Amino acid sequence: MPKYSTTRIIRIASTKGGAGKTTVSINLAIALASLGKEVILIDGDPSNASVADHLGIQEPYMSWEDVAFLARPLNDAIIKYTPGNIDVLPGVDETGTLNLSPDQILYLTQQADTLDYEYIIMDTAPGILIPEITTTLPQFVSESIIVSTPDEPTIKSNNKLVQLYQENTLRYGVVLNRVGANSYEMPIEQIKNGYNMDILETLPEDKVVPKSIGEHMPAILLNKDAEFSKKIVKLADDVVNRKY
Ligand SMILES: Nc1ncnc2c1ncn2[C@@H]1O[C@H](COP(=O)(O)OP(=O)(O)OP(=O)(O)O)[C@@H](O)[C@H]1O
Ligand SMILES: [Mg+2]
Repeated sequence: MPKYSTTRIIRIASTKGGAGKTTVSINLAIALASLGKEVILIDGDPSNASVADHLGIQEPYMSWEDVAFLARPLNDAIIKYTPGNIDVLPGVDETGTLNLSPDQILYLTQQADTLDYEYIIMDTAPGILIPEITTTLPQFVSESIIVSTPDEPTIKSNNKLVQLYQENTLRYGVVLNRVGANSYEMPIEQIKNGYNMDILETLPEDKVVPKSIGEHMPAILLNKDAEFSKKIVKLADDVVNRKY
Protein backbone atom coordinates (compact mmCIF):
# COMPACT_ATOMS: atom_id res chain seq x y z
CA MET A 1 0.00 0.00 0.00
CA PRO A 2 1.64 3.29 -1.01
CA LYS A 3 2.28 5.79 1.76
CA TYR A 4 0.70 8.53 -0.34
CA SER A 5 -2.50 7.60 -2.10
CA THR A 6 -2.70 11.00 -3.76
CA THR A 7 0.70 11.66 -5.30
CA ARG A 8 0.58 14.85 -7.34
CA ILE A 9 2.56 14.59 -10.55
CA ILE A 10 3.33 17.98 -12.01
CA ARG A 11 4.70 18.25 -15.50
CA ILE A 12 6.69 21.47 -16.01
CA ALA A 13 6.11 22.29 -19.65
CA SER A 14 6.62 24.90 -22.33
CA THR A 15 6.32 24.88 -26.08
CA LYS A 16 9.48 26.98 -26.35
CA GLY A 17 13.03 26.14 -25.32
CA GLY A 18 14.83 28.30 -22.80
CA ALA A 19 11.69 29.61 -21.05
CA GLY A 20 12.96 28.42 -17.66
CA LYS A 21 11.46 24.93 -17.25
CA THR A 22 14.53 23.40 -15.64
CA THR A 23 15.09 26.41 -13.38
CA VAL A 24 11.45 26.39 -12.23
CA SER A 25 11.38 22.57 -11.81
CA ILE A 26 14.44 22.52 -9.55
CA ASN A 27 13.57 25.54 -7.44
CA LEU A 28 9.91 24.57 -7.10
CA ALA A 29 10.86 21.04 -5.99
CA ILE A 30 13.15 22.45 -3.30
CA ALA A 31 10.57 25.05 -2.23
CA LEU A 32 7.96 22.30 -1.81
CA ALA A 33 10.44 20.32 0.30
CA SER A 34 11.03 23.41 2.44
CA LEU A 35 7.27 23.37 3.14
CA GLY A 36 7.70 19.85 4.52
CA LYS A 37 6.62 17.90 1.43
CA GLU A 38 8.23 14.67 0.25
CA VAL A 39 9.39 15.39 -3.29
CA ILE A 40 11.16 13.70 -6.18
CA LEU A 41 12.44 15.68 -9.16
CA ILE A 42 12.60 13.74 -12.42
CA ASP A 43 14.61 14.89 -15.41
CA GLY A 44 12.18 14.16 -18.22
CA ASP A 45 14.01 15.99 -20.98
CA PRO A 46 15.77 13.36 -23.09
CA SER A 47 16.72 16.03 -25.64
CA ASN A 48 18.85 17.89 -23.10
CA ALA A 49 19.00 16.38 -19.62
CA SER A 50 20.41 19.12 -17.42
CA VAL A 51 18.97 18.71 -13.91
CA ALA A 52 22.06 16.87 -12.59
CA ASP A 53 24.34 19.55 -13.99
CA HIS A 54 22.28 22.38 -12.48
CA LEU A 55 22.51 20.63 -9.09
CA GLY A 56 26.22 19.88 -9.35
CA ILE A 57 25.59 16.12 -9.22
CA GLN A 58 28.78 14.54 -10.52
CA GLU A 59 28.97 11.60 -12.89
CA PRO A 60 28.85 8.68 -12.77
CA TYR A 61 25.16 8.39 -11.99
CA MET A 62 22.44 6.22 -13.41
CA SER A 63 19.62 7.64 -15.52
CA TRP A 64 16.11 6.19 -15.76
CA GLU A 65 17.08 5.00 -19.23
CA ASP A 66 19.95 2.99 -17.70
CA VAL A 67 17.42 1.53 -15.26
CA ALA A 68 15.39 0.22 -18.19
CA PHE A 69 18.39 -1.05 -20.15
CA LEU A 70 19.93 -2.84 -17.18
CA ALA A 71 16.57 -3.95 -15.69
CA ARG A 72 17.59 -2.50 -12.33
CA PRO A 73 15.28 -1.25 -9.59
CA LEU A 74 14.41 2.39 -10.13
CA ASN A 75 15.63 3.02 -6.59
CA ASP A 76 19.21 2.35 -7.73
CA ALA A 77 19.11 5.55 -9.80
CA ILE A 78 17.54 7.84 -7.21
CA ILE A 79 19.97 10.34 -5.70
CA LYS A 80 19.42 12.10 -2.40
CA TYR A 81 20.13 15.79 -2.99
CA THR A 82 20.58 16.72 0.65
CA PRO A 83 21.14 20.52 0.28
CA GLY A 84 17.59 20.77 -1.05
CA ASN A 85 16.06 17.86 0.87
CA ILE A 86 14.72 16.26 -2.32
CA ASP A 87 15.28 13.04 -4.24
CA VAL A 88 16.40 13.28 -7.85
CA LEU A 89 16.06 10.88 -10.76
CA PRO A 90 18.55 11.99 -13.41
CA GLY A 91 17.79 11.83 -17.09
CA VAL A 92 19.53 10.45 -20.13
CA ASP A 93 22.98 11.97 -20.26
CA GLU A 94 23.26 12.18 -24.00
CA THR A 95 21.64 14.39 -26.57
CA GLY A 96 19.01 12.48 -28.42
CA THR A 97 15.73 10.77 -27.95
CA LEU A 98 14.65 7.73 -26.03
CA ASN A 99 15.90 4.49 -27.36
CA LEU A 100 13.90 1.98 -25.38
CA SER A 101 12.19 -1.16 -26.62
CA PRO A 102 8.51 -1.73 -25.78
CA ASP A 103 9.60 -4.28 -23.14
CA GLN A 104 11.98 -1.79 -21.57
CA ILE A 105 9.26 0.87 -21.55
CA LEU A 106 6.90 -1.58 -19.85
CA TYR A 107 9.57 -2.40 -17.26
CA LEU A 108 10.17 1.29 -16.57
CA THR A 109 6.45 1.94 -16.25
CA GLN A 110 6.12 -0.87 -13.70
CA GLN A 111 9.10 0.49 -11.78
CA ALA A 112 7.59 3.98 -11.80
CA ASP A 113 4.59 2.62 -9.96
CA THR A 114 6.85 2.10 -6.94
CA LEU A 115 7.60 5.82 -6.58
CA ASP A 116 6.06 6.87 -3.30
CA TYR A 117 6.16 10.65 -2.87
CA GLU A 118 3.73 13.47 -2.18
CA TYR A 119 4.99 15.38 -5.22
CA ILE A 120 6.64 14.25 -8.42
CA ILE A 121 8.02 17.25 -10.29
CA MET A 122 8.91 16.43 -13.89
CA ASP A 123 11.10 18.69 -16.02
CA THR A 124 10.30 18.12 -19.70
CA ALA A 125 11.55 18.86 -23.20
CA PRO A 126 10.15 21.88 -25.05
CA GLY A 127 7.27 21.20 -27.42
CA ILE A 128 3.56 20.72 -27.75
CA LEU A 129 3.67 16.93 -27.93
CA ILE A 130 3.44 14.94 -24.75
CA PRO A 131 7.09 13.89 -24.42
CA GLU A 132 7.94 10.22 -24.41
CA ILE A 133 8.97 10.28 -20.76
CA THR A 134 5.44 11.23 -19.80
CA THR A 135 4.12 8.10 -21.41
CA THR A 136 6.82 5.86 -19.94
CA LEU A 137 7.40 7.14 -16.43
CA PRO A 138 4.28 7.88 -14.37
CA GLN A 139 1.63 8.00 -17.08
CA PHE A 140 -0.87 9.42 -14.70
CA VAL A 141 0.34 13.04 -14.95
CA SER A 142 -2.24 14.90 -12.96
CA GLU A 143 -1.43 18.51 -13.68
CA SER A 144 0.94 20.86 -15.45
CA ILE A 145 2.69 24.15 -14.91
CA ILE A 146 3.39 25.94 -18.18
CA VAL A 147 6.44 28.19 -18.05
CA SER A 148 6.36 31.05 -20.52
CA THR A 149 8.28 34.23 -21.06
CA PRO A 150 5.96 37.22 -21.57
CA ASP A 151 6.86 37.93 -25.21
CA GLU A 152 4.15 37.59 -27.81
CA PRO A 153 5.52 34.66 -29.88
CA THR A 154 6.09 32.56 -26.74
CA ILE A 155 2.69 33.43 -25.28
CA LYS A 156 0.99 32.60 -28.59
CA SER A 157 2.82 29.31 -28.80
CA ASN A 158 2.11 28.32 -25.18
CA ASN A 159 -1.52 29.25 -25.67
CA LYS A 160 -1.80 26.18 -27.93
CA LEU A 161 -0.67 24.02 -25.02
CA VAL A 162 -3.23 25.76 -22.80
CA GLN A 163 -5.93 24.90 -25.34
CA LEU A 164 -4.78 21.27 -25.43
CA TYR A 165 -4.98 21.07 -21.65
CA GLN A 166 -8.38 22.75 -21.61
CA GLU A 167 -9.69 20.27 -24.20
CA ASN A 168 -8.39 17.39 -22.07
CA THR A 169 -9.49 19.01 -18.80
CA LEU A 170 -5.99 18.77 -17.38
CA ARG A 171 -5.43 21.07 -14.43
CA TYR A 172 -2.81 23.69 -15.34
CA GLY A 173 -1.39 27.06 -14.33
CA VAL A 174 0.78 29.42 -16.36
CA VAL A 175 3.90 30.87 -14.77
CA LEU A 176 5.34 33.91 -16.50
CA ASN A 177 9.11 33.84 -16.12
CA ARG A 178 11.78 36.48 -16.74
CA VAL A 179 9.26 39.27 -16.27
CA GLY A 180 10.93 42.65 -16.65
CA ALA A 181 13.76 41.37 -18.84
CA ASN A 182 12.73 43.10 -22.07
CA SER A 183 11.09 46.33 -23.12
CA TYR A 184 9.11 44.53 -25.83
CA GLU A 185 7.41 42.06 -23.49
CA MET A 186 3.62 42.07 -23.15
CA PRO A 187 1.98 43.67 -20.11
CA ILE A 188 0.42 40.99 -17.91
CA GLU A 189 -3.06 42.52 -18.21
CA GLN A 190 -2.80 42.30 -21.99
CA ILE A 191 -1.90 38.59 -21.73
CA LYS A 192 -4.80 37.96 -19.35
CA ASN A 193 -7.27 39.84 -21.55
CA GLY A 194 -6.03 38.65 -24.92
CA TYR A 195 -5.68 34.95 -24.15
CA ASN A 196 -7.88 32.57 -22.28
CA MET A 197 -5.10 31.40 -19.95
CA ASP A 198 -4.90 31.32 -16.17
CA ILE A 199 -1.76 33.13 -14.96
CA LEU A 200 -0.75 31.53 -11.70
CA GLU A 201 2.37 33.48 -10.78
CA THR A 202 5.00 35.78 -12.25
CA LEU A 203 8.72 35.31 -11.69
CA PRO A 204 11.07 38.24 -12.23
CA GLU A 205 14.19 38.42 -14.35
CA ASP A 206 16.81 38.02 -11.64
CA LYS A 207 20.58 37.72 -11.90
CA VAL A 208 20.54 35.14 -9.11
CA VAL A 209 19.38 32.61 -11.76
CA PRO A 210 22.37 32.72 -14.17
CA LYS A 211 24.66 32.99 -11.12
CA SER A 212 23.06 29.87 -9.62
CA ILE A 213 23.48 27.90 -12.83
CA GLY A 214 27.13 28.95 -13.03
CA GLU A 215 27.69 27.83 -9.45
CA HIS A 216 25.65 24.59 -9.83
CA MET A 217 23.61 25.61 -6.81
CA PRO A 218 19.85 26.29 -7.09
CA ALA A 219 18.87 29.96 -6.77
CA ILE A 220 16.63 29.30 -3.77
CA LEU A 221 19.60 27.84 -1.87
CA LEU A 222 22.12 30.39 -3.15
CA ASN A 223 20.04 33.35 -1.99
CA LYS A 224 16.68 32.74 -0.37
CA ASP A 225 16.07 36.50 -0.14
CA ALA A 226 16.41 37.14 -3.89
CA GLU A 227 13.16 38.27 -5.55
CA PHE A 228 13.11 35.13 -7.73
CA SER A 229 13.51 32.85 -4.68
CA LYS A 230 10.74 34.59 -2.74
CA LYS A 231 8.38 34.22 -5.71
CA ILE A 232 9.22 30.53 -6.06
CA VAL A 233 8.20 29.95 -2.43
CA LYS A 234 4.94 31.76 -3.24
CA LEU A 235 4.50 29.46 -6.25
CA ALA A 236 5.06 26.40 -4.05
CA ASP A 237 2.39 27.72 -1.72
CA ASP A 238 0.01 28.20 -4.69
CA VAL A 239 0.69 24.60 -5.74
CA VAL A 240 0.11 23.17 -2.26
CA ASN A 241 -3.13 25.13 -1.94
CA ARG A 242 -4.25 24.17 -5.48
CA LYS A 243 -4.69 27.72 -6.65
CA TYR A 244 -5.15 26.50 -10.20
N1 LIG B 1 14.01 34.31 -13.86
C1 LIG B 1 15.14 34.32 -14.56
N2 LIG B 1 15.99 35.37 -14.49
C2 LIG B 1 17.13 35.40 -15.22
N3 LIG B 1 17.51 34.42 -16.03
C3 LIG B 1 16.72 33.34 -16.15
C4 LIG B 1 15.49 33.22 -15.42
N4 LIG B 1 14.92 32.02 -15.74
C5 LIG B 1 15.74 31.43 -16.62
N5 LIG B 1 16.82 32.21 -16.88
C6 LIG B 1 17.93 31.90 -17.80
O1 LIG B 1 17.37 31.34 -18.98
C7 LIG B 1 18.16 30.26 -19.42
C8 LIG B 1 17.28 29.05 -19.70
O2 LIG B 1 16.75 28.56 -18.47
P1 LIG B 1 16.37 27.00 -18.31
O3 LIG B 1 17.51 26.15 -18.69
O4 LIG B 1 15.76 26.85 -16.98
O5 LIG B 1 15.24 26.91 -19.45
P2 LIG B 1 14.57 25.61 -20.09
O6 LIG B 1 13.19 26.00 -20.45
O7 LIG B 1 14.75 24.45 -19.20
O8 LIG B 1 15.46 25.42 -21.40
P3 LIG B 1 15.48 24.12 -22.37
O9 LIG B 1 14.25 24.24 -23.21
O10 LIG B 1 16.74 24.31 -23.15
O11 LIG B 1 15.47 22.90 -21.51
C9 LIG B 1 19.22 29.99 -18.38
O12 LIG B 1 20.45 30.38 -18.88
C10 LIG B 1 18.85 30.84 -17.19
O13 LIG B 1 19.95 31.47 -16.63
MG1 LIG C 1 15.53 22.56 -19.54
